[in-house]
Amino acid sequence: MATATGTKGALVEKTATQQVVVDVAGINRREFLYYIWGASMVMLLGQAGVGLVWFLLPRFREGEYGGEFRFDGSVVPEVNAEPTRIPDGRMWLSNTDEGFVVLFGICTHLGCLPGWSKNNHRFECPCHGSKYEIGGEWIEGPAPRGLDALEFTLVFTDGSSASSNGTRDPIALNGRTISQVIVNSGKKITGPPHGA
Ligand code: FES
Repeated sequence: MATATGTKGALVEKTATQQVVVDVAGINRREFLYYIWGASMVMLLGQAGVGLVWFLLPRFREGEYGGEFRFDGSVVPEVNAEPTRIPDGRMWLSNTDEGFVVLFGICTHLGCLPGWSKNNHRFECPCHGSKYEIGGEWIEGPAPRGLDALEFTLVFTDGSSASSNGTRDPIALNGRTISQVIVNSGKKITGPPHGA
């Protein structure tokens, strides 16, 4: 049997009967590596694209913890009245002599959920007994500081507005009526130390 190499990738074998068999060769090592490299690049670019879309999408929707909450003025309690609890946002809206503040409703000791005690007119943690004033200031117990607060903006009926701007100080209302409360539940402000 005579054997000869024909065009690239084809092996031509000649038998005594002159039958020609053509065997198409598979990809060689170099081509295989090219394909692997190409597939790797496609996967890498795909992952980068998915990551970019994920990054650009808003992390939290409005009304979802971690995102923005909007309330009309009807949720604002009277001065020194029981604060309004917003369970979905883990927050309390509190109106004190000093002004309005949005408190983060998680105990600064070990993360339990303090409740409002009507009898004692203060927040009380059921786990280890920490107590907080209506404005979130620490009173007693193992909590290392007062309740943390959340960043918020108030819009008043006269068209003016005021923002907490990263501070924990209440915003004094000075006779203005709140028409809207906008809370950024993703922006927490550390509570005041003992005695502050
Ligand atoms: S978790 Fe609130 S006092 Fe310990």
